[in-house]
Parts: sequence; structure tokens; C-alpha cells
Amino acid sequence: MVVLGIETSCDETAAAVVEDGRSVLSSVVYSQVPLHQPYGGVVPEIASRSHVEKIGGVVREALREAFAPGGGVADTELAPGVWDRVDAVAVTYGPGLASSLIVGLSAAKGLALSLGKPLIGINHIEAHVHSVFLTPGAPDPRETGPLLALVVSGGHSCWIDVPEPGTYRIIGQTLDDAAGEAFDKAAKLLGLGYPGGPVIDRVARQAARRDAVAFPTGSPRTGNRGLGGLRAELCVSFSGLKTSLMYHLRDQPPQDEGQVAEIVAAYQEAIVGALAGRCERALRGGRYRALAVGGGVSLNRRLRERLAQVASGAGVRLLLAEPRFCGDNAAMIAGLAGMGGGVRGEAALRLDVVPALEAGE
Ligand code: KG4
Ligand code: ZN
Repeated sequence: MVVLGIETSCDETAAAVVEDGRSVLSSVVYSQVPLHQPYGGVVPEIASRSHVEKIGGVVREALREAFAPGGGVADTELAPGVWDRVDAVAVTYGPGLASSLIVGLSAAKGLALSLGKPLIGINHIEAHVHSVFLTPGAPDPRETGPLLALVVSGGHSCWIDVPEPGTYRIIGQTLDDAAGEAFDKAAKLLGLGYPGGPVIDRVARQAARRDAVAFPTGSPRTGNRGLGGLRAELCVSFSGLKTSLMYHLRDQPPQDEGQVAEIVAAYQEAIVGALAGRCERALRGGRYRALAVGGGVSLNRRLRERLAQVASGAGVRLLLAEPRFCGDNAAMIAGLAGMGGGVRGEAALRLDVVPALEAGE
């Protein structure tokens, strides 16, 4: 089954062609980062307008790359018969920014209807979990579970119990800021630019030590209403962290680059420690065979290092997405659809966007 996937949930316009859920024939991502950089964050109005502008070209590029690699087809034209090679159109319908999601969903509905092919609606978080299976040599998702999945990005930080492919249950999450957001806000406070994660990752490696500052990342208290029935020890809260950074910068402003690096390294260590610590707790009891990690923050080198220790300590396999599939992409969307996931049949054509969709919902 060849699936054309479309993803426009935030600030990446993406399309991909994936065969049988795992084999990526093409993956095209147009990143809007430069458009949002002057504002230090994603501006929804700019994001949706840019999606409208780019989506047509990105879809065509994905088809061209998949079926006519090396060119030979004029830039604006697709070879005859290319559309016939697509068996289904898959698209993210949530979570994300409503005005961004609408562009991809409308485009996908239009394509599916005009081609007479089925439409498949995909949950973006569940697709991040599938991203670890797109790498050549990755194990078969049907033979890997039960999985503990961690999805960490600019919009999400959650732990998901995946007993078998297609079944998802959130067991922990952040009660406020996502991990990526915590990186981005710190970089903004330090004047390091946007997005913050990559630059913090880089600067932290220059630090002489990681424990120059003690930043707090306690578990939320049991009984906290934000938990909504989740176990407190598997949840995190990052909003206090950035406040504490703000006070630290006010009270003890760094005197040189070395001190900036030490602050950054300590801040990163607090986030990474919180994420790795929850993984360690969730893996206790021996229920899982693998730890699968996706989302833009999973690119963080210190996090990868700590997760490798946690996985090996728990005796489970660590599954990380290939760097190009960590951030938002459409290969994970087409892939999950090709494995049989998502909203299918007539129900898909009636889908509306669901900005606050959760894994397993
Ligand atoms: O998954 P993603 O591309 O988009 C969504 O938010 O869905 O993730 C983007 C986030 C940003 O917050 C960015 O700062 C963070 O991932 N990020 C990183 C690194 N690379 C990207 N965070 C920490 N370390 C990195 N190396
Ligand atoms: Zn994402």
C-alpha cells in the first residue's frame, strides 16, 4: 500500500510517500522557521498562510521524488500516471494549531475526493511514536512491544503506554510547558535566538560543569488537579524552571561566555534529568521491552545519552527516530496510515481538525 502523507499541524509544511508503513520513498519538509524567527515563536496567522502557499508544491515534490527520482520531469509537471500510484491519502487532523491543521486536512480531502482514493486521518502524537520504525534496520512494530513511548517536542511532552501497535494510553505528561518550549523560552531569556533547543544543545557542550546552578524540576504533587488521574511521579512541570532561570539571571548575571555555558548546561540537565527520570520510573516493573522516543527534543544529544543509560539499566531496547524524522514530518503520518492506523472509511471524510487531540483518543 502506497500512502501519500500530509502534515501541517504547526510550522512545517510536509508531504511524503511511504510504502507499506515503513519504506519511505520520499519525505519533503518545508520549514517556516525563518518566517517565525523575528517573533521568537510560531505566529499562527503567518503559519497558516505559508501552508496555503506551499502545500501544493510540497505535495508535488514528494510525488516527484518518490516516483521520478533524479528528475526528467519538468518542475511544475508530474509524469502521467503518478497520481495513480498512490493508494490512499493520509493527513494529520490533530493535535496542533487549528488554522494550520485546516490547510492540510482540506488539501488532503480535496485530493482524496478528486483521485477517488481513501482518506485516512492521523493523530500527530501517535505518528511521532511510529517515527522510530521508519529507519532502515528498525525492528517490526508488531514484534517490538509492549513499548514505553516518550514524545517530546515544542508542543508536547508525554509518556505513552503502547501494549501493541495501534493502542495508546497516556500515562504521564507535562502539566504546563512542553520540554521544547522550556528550551525555547530559556534561549529567548539568554538572547540565544530561536528555536532554542539546538543552540542550547550546542552551548551546553562547552560548559566546564553541569551542576553550577541547581534548577528545580519537581514532580507535581499528588492531588494536583492538573494531573487528571495520571500518576504524579510520571508527570513533569517545566514552568517553574524558566521562572527560576529568570531570577538567576537577574540576581547573578553571567560574567562571560563560560558562565553562560554553565547556566545553559545546568538548565538542560534539569530538563533531561526530569525526562529520563520519568522514563526510569515508568520502566520499573519490567512491563516494557523497548523505549521509543520521538519529537524534535529527541535530537538533544545529552538526552540521547541519558536515555541510553536508562534503557540499558532497565534492560530494554532504545528506539530513536532518525534525525530527519524527529521533528515534524509527513513520513510518520503516511507510515502510521500504511500500518493500518488512523480514522478510516467514510468517517475520515467527515473529520474536522481537533487541536487538543490526545494520544489514544
Ligand atoms: O517536533 P518539532 O520539530 O516540532 C514540534 O514542536 O512539534 O520540535 C521542535 C522543538 C523546538 O522546541 C526545538 O527547540 C526543539 O524541538 N529541539 C531541541 C533540539 N532540536 C530541536 N531541543 C533540544 N535539543 C535539540 N537538539
Ligand atoms: Zn510534532
